[in-house]
Amino acid sequence: MKPNKRDVMWISALGIALLITLGFVYDRHFAPEWKDYQDEFREMIAEKYGEARAAQVPAGVQQIWVKELNRVDRCTTCHQGVEWKGMESAPEPFRTHSKEPLAKHPISKYGCTVCHGGQGYAVDTESAHAVAVEHWEEPLLGAEMAAAYTVSDRNALLQVNCNGCHRYDRETKGADVINRGKQLIAEKGCRACHVINGRGGTVGPNLTNVGELSPEQYDYDRLNGKKSVFAWHMAHFKDPKAMSPATVMPNFGLNSKDAQALTLLVMSWKRRALPVEYIPGFQQADVPTPEEQRRESEMLTGKGAFFVRKGCFICHDVSSFGIQSASKIGPDLSIAVTDVQSRFGRTLEDFLAQPTGTMAVVLSTQIHLSNEERAEAIEKLHEAYKIKEAESGKAAQGEARKGK
Ligand code: HEC
Ligand code: HEC
Ligand code: HEC
Ligand code: HEC
Ligand code: HEC
Repeated sequence: MKPNKRDVMWISALGIALLITLGFVYDRHFAPEWKDYQDEFREMIAEKYGEARAAQVPAGVQQIWVKELNRVDRCTTCHQGVEWKGMESAPEPFRTHSKEPLAKHPISKYGCTVCHGGQGYAVDTESAHAVAVEHWEEPLLGAEMAAAYTVSDRNALLQVNCNGCHRYDRETKGADVINRGKQLIAEKGCRACHVINGRGGTVGPNLTNVGELSPEQYDYDRLNGKKSVFAWHMAHFKDPKAMSPATVMPNFGLNSKDAQALTLLVMSWKRRALPVEYIPGFQQADVPTPEEQRRESEMLTGKGAFFVRKGCFICHDVSSFGIQSASKIGPDLSIAVTDVQSRFGRTLEDFLAQPTGTMAVVLSTQIHLSNEERAEAIEKLHEAYKIKEAESGKAAQGEARKGK
């Protein structure tokens, strides 16, 4: 049978399509994306330093295997200039790495992904940078993610990974956003209500590993816009009640930058399976500073020792006894006798027996007062009030005299 013209045309068209496909597969296999980058890098080196140096540029898939961290990073397959001198102004992926981070963390011992994120084993840009991946830890914490999360400092996200190892540092050079977050933790007295690294109160949840909660564990019903753990924390820090209406967590009036610093900090708090030599200053719990300890022991021997012993001073000043709270989350208890009356329309005795709001949570979770202790608190608060009254009386007399 003679094949008709149409069949011949179809068969040749198919044949050509098959050839093109094969050619493409062949090209991708033998000339993958990274090969183009390696060729380009070698040309740049040849141009700058001559053919002899260019011949030293390694060819083929490169990888850094860090056994201790259980990582195989092939980023240097494309990022070949990382350890070369003189490529500081080359475009990526050819640029010399900035010195500071690698001086303290040689890539042979750290690889790349412990700091940057990304998928170490991948050798095409899209999978290596993994920016389209849903989860937080995996994507490259670079410019694109910073834009997606509207973080102004493109290196801020990276600092989440720095703190995976540096969480016990009070301050880490090169991690300014995280450092600001740590400063806020101390300034705002978050430990009054939260255990962090083994130390703190129990009014709120333990935050030591709060960064491990998965995105599904958050309730996004009250969140407008992009729904992510990052966005939830941002909204919660700016106004805790907006995310958790029944919460007793105070609104600290944080600006966006500070809310961001705290968000990145709490997201960095997770258990990491790291060998001890990778954790600087490792210790089980944060230790109070000598200054904090001195102040506390001084107050433990004074007239208001009761309020220090029971932990009230974590949130309250009792100024007439010289008691200073670092966080000042609650009001000065020196005027509680009248203040409770005017704010709650109840006597102090009544309020402490049947507390409402934050104190209801505090006295049911964190501090137990026996009947005797409650009586002691009330007696002491009356005493504190008398001192306050006498002081303000004197001050008023002084004012009156000056006025004459
Ligand atoms: C197939 C080649 C290739 C591989 C593999 C690769 N990269 Fe890149 N990388 C690039 C190119 C090209 C650019 C510049 C264009 C861009 O930003 O996408 C770049 C840019 C970057 C940047 C700067 C851009 C930003 O968003 O901040 C960082 C950081 C980076 N890569 C880190 C990594 C890490 C970490 C790995 C390993 C997990 C890796 N890369 C693997 C090709 C690659
Ligand atoms: C100790 C943490 C750390 C390690 C390990 C590390 N980097 Fe970086 N890298 C940084 C920091 C921090 C910056 C931003 C530094 C700066 O701008 O001074 C950076 C910047 C970069 C940039 C430029 C990003 C930009 O925004 O322009 C690239 C690309 C990059 N690193 C790739 C790599 C590769 C590839 C490796 C592994 C061979 C690696 N890094 C290992 C911390 C690290
Ligand atoms: C995998 C764990 C790990 C990661 C991730 C990491 N570091 Fe480190 N870093 C260490 C260890 C361990 C040391 C202590 C090295 C030594 O003692 O010589 C150190 C040392 C340092 C030092 C020097 C401290 C000193 O007292 O000399 C600085 C600064 C530093 N890191 C900043 C950073 C920054 C910024 C990042 C993120 C870009 C980062 N580190 C990421 C583990 C890590
Ligand atoms: C007066 C007590 C109190 C103080 C002070 C306080 N919190 Fe909270 N916090 C809570 C309570 C209660 C919750 C649980 C309800 C909620 O989500 O708000 C909470 C929830 C949280 C959560 C969410 C926890 C989770 O499981 O996802 C984070 C994160 C947090 N607080 C961080 C902080 C930080 C950081 C500070 C200091 C700037 C702080 N808190 C100060 C009481 C407090
Ligand atoms: C975790 C922080 C925290 C601790 C610890 C704490 N309080 Fe409070 N307390 C508060 C807050 C916040 C308020 C304000 C409550 C409100 O406005 O609903 C408050 C209110 C009060 C009031 C009412 C004061 C007024 O002027 O209205 C009294 C009285 C009081 N607390 C006593 C105590 C005593 C006694 C202790 C120790 C046994 C204690 N508190 C421990 C946070 C705390």
